[in-house]
Amino acid sequence: GDINSCKKNLLENNNNVLILFLTQVNEKDYNKLTEYNFPLILINEHNFNRDNLTSEFVELYQEIRSCEACLLHTTRKNAVPGEGPQDAQVMFIGEAPGLNEDREGRPFVGRAGSFLEELLAAAGLKRSEVFICNVLKCRPPDNRDPLPAEIDLCSDFISRQIQLIDPFVVVTLGRHSMRRFFPDATISRVHGQPKTVAGRLIVPMYHPAAALHRG
Ligand code: URA
Repeated sequence: GDINSCKKNLLENNNNVLILFLTQVNEKDYNKLTEYNFPLILINEHNFNRDNLTSEFVELYQEIRSCEACLLHTTRKNAVPGEGPQDAQVMFIGEAPGLNEDREGRPFVGRAGSFLEELLAAAGLKRSEVFICNVLKCRPPDNRDPLPAEIDLCSDFISRQIQLIDPFVVVTLGRHSMRRFFPDATISRVHGQPKTVAGRLIVPMYHPAAALHRG
C-alpha cells in the first residue's frame, strides 16, 4: 500500500513491531516480508520539500551552542546540538557527548559513532539521512553519568528538536534517553519494543557503547 497508510497502520497496530529500515524496497520484497508477517516499518519516502533549514532550527542550534544553563558549560570545549536533516524521519537520541564529541562539536564521532554507523548501514540507513543528538548537549567531566538536574535543564532542547524535526520514529539509545519517554521502564525489559507515544514510534535500544564494552 502507500506509505502513509502503511505508517498509519503501524501506529494503530503497535504490537511487537520489529523495526526494519529500508531505504529501497521493491513491491516483491515488500510482499514477501508482509506475507511472513514480518513486522515492518518502511522508511523510504523522503520529504525534500523543506530544502532549507527554518530559522527556528538554526536559532535553536545557536542557542544550544552558547547555553550556560548548567555547570557543564564551564568544562566543555564545544556544546553538541546534534546533526542531520531537519526533515529526518528517524531521530536517534544518545546520552551525552564524550571526549571526541566535545572536541569536534558533533555527536557520535568516536568508537560508539562508528558502531552506530555500522548498525545504521545494516538497517539500510545512511548517517546523513537521520538526525542524531543526545540527552545532554555538553560533556560531563570524565564521562560521568548525567545528573538529574543537568537532564532537566537540557530537556527543553530535545523537546524543541523533536517538535521541529517531527520524526516518525525516535530511537532512544541507552537508559537516560529511554527515561525521557518511559520514566519507569527498565531497559533490559523494554529494549527493542517500540511503543507509540503521541503519534510517534519510540524505540528504546541499548546504547551502542554497551555492546563495545561487553565485546
Ligand atoms: N557519543 C555521543 O555523542 N553520545 C553518546 O551517547 C555516546 C557517544
